[in-house]
Amino acid sequence: MAGVADAVAVARVGELAPGQTKKFLLHRGDREEECFLVNHNGALYAYVNRCCHIPMTMDWIDNQFLTEDQRYILCATHGACYLPQTGECIVGPPLGKFLTPVPLHVRDGEILASWP
Ligand code: FES
Repeated sequence: MAGVADAVAVARVGELAPGQTKKFLLHRGDREEECFLVNHNGALYAYVNRCCHIPMTMDWIDNQFLTEDQRYILCATHGACYLPQTGECIVGPPLGKFLTPVPLHVRDGEILASWP
């Protein structure tokens, strides 16, 4: 499991306003994961950008991950809705499944992400 030492900076503290998201890549060896940060009501969460229904990215329009009311993470393909706080799917085909969380840390004003 990755520790803080392996973490990479993905954003500055305060960079994302509530309702904003940002994509980033994590690398390990020859593996690469596309992930995204989301600011939900002032708290930051990060997940691998892969739906629990079909393992594909969820933002049909680049970096558009949230429902219009910004309450849920949305998979644009079949409309699955996930809770930003936990990654649990509450509506849609992968009901009850969880997005893969990406551990976050804060150091010296930067948001660091670790391999999930
Ligand atoms: S691929 Fe995401 S809901 Fe079907």
